[in-house]
Amino acid sequence: MSIIDGKALSEIIKLEIREEVLSLKEQRKNIPHLAAVLVGNNPASESYVKSKVRSCEQVGFESTLIRKDDSITEEELLDIIKDLNEEDDVDGFIVQLPLPKHIDETKVTLAIDPKKDVDGFHPVNFGRMAQGLPCYLPATPFGIMTMLERYEIETEGKHCVVLGRSNIVGSPMSILLSRKGTPGNCTVTLAHSRTKDLAAETLRADILIAAIGIPNFISADMVKDGVVIIDVGINRIDDPSRKRGYRLVGDVDYESVSPKASFITPVPGGVGPMTVTSLLANTLKASKKEVYL
Ligand code: GUN
Repeated sequence: MSIIDGKALSEIIKLEIREEVLSLKEQRKNIPHLAAVLVGNNPASESYVKSKVRSCEQVGFESTLIRKDDSITEEELLDIIKDLNEEDDVDGFIVQLPLPKHIDETKVTLAIDPKKDVDGFHPVNFGRMAQGLPCYLPATPFGIMTMLERYEIETEGKHCVVLGRSNIVGSPMSILLSRKGTPGNCTVTLAHSRTKDLAAETLRADILIAAIGIPNFISADMVKDGVVIIDVGINRIDDPSRKRGYRLVGDVDYESVSPKASFITPVPGGVGPMTVTSLLANTLKASKKEVYL
């Protein structure tokens, strides 16, 4: 069994991005600038956004964090998005989700200019992805594709089972792996909460991508020997023995499943760090106008 070390790989990719930024600086070209909008004080969102801003600093990007109280109105948030769309100095921006209940997330996503949508959530970017056109890939699927590529994991002709059909992970993942290319050319099953015999599906997987948000859901009896496991879950479970009172576990029961796997991503230190790196890669593309003129 080999561990897919997302943390180590993300450090390598950050170094590559840093090199590019240094070269842009030498050529006196535009330095990539990412802005992040954080509404309210959801602890998980705070920690993700902090990590995004810290990563920008590590690679030499400019970053702007716009923090708003959760009493902000939808109209006020849409005004901030309009300003960011028009601000020439900002190459790309994200609005951290989830948003407070009184704000319509779909409206917010649709308000972001696809050219600056470095999260790849806008339907224009989703549609371009589905058709294999230049686009910003959503960060988590982009990170998973990079892991498969850099670890040279064979995907051609393999049966991939994606668990979870969210717009930002499961659904794009199923499309990317079924597309022509490397990684790609998989036969894909997209399973979800209404799938009848889930274990029958997961047992057929050469590659299993778990993105359902249920701690330790996949047990050893649900996978076959030699499976490649990509665990997208980042679930907090109570742990009084830890100073912070919780620990992070994936959707896969690592202890029982890892001995059967050929490759597996740990939690933490697997998919999570790659997601942030992919956001940086998209922001670099935005500043170089590689996707849209
Ligand atoms: N919430 C959880 N993951 C993400 C992400 O990748 N981007 C944004 N904007 N919000 C999130």
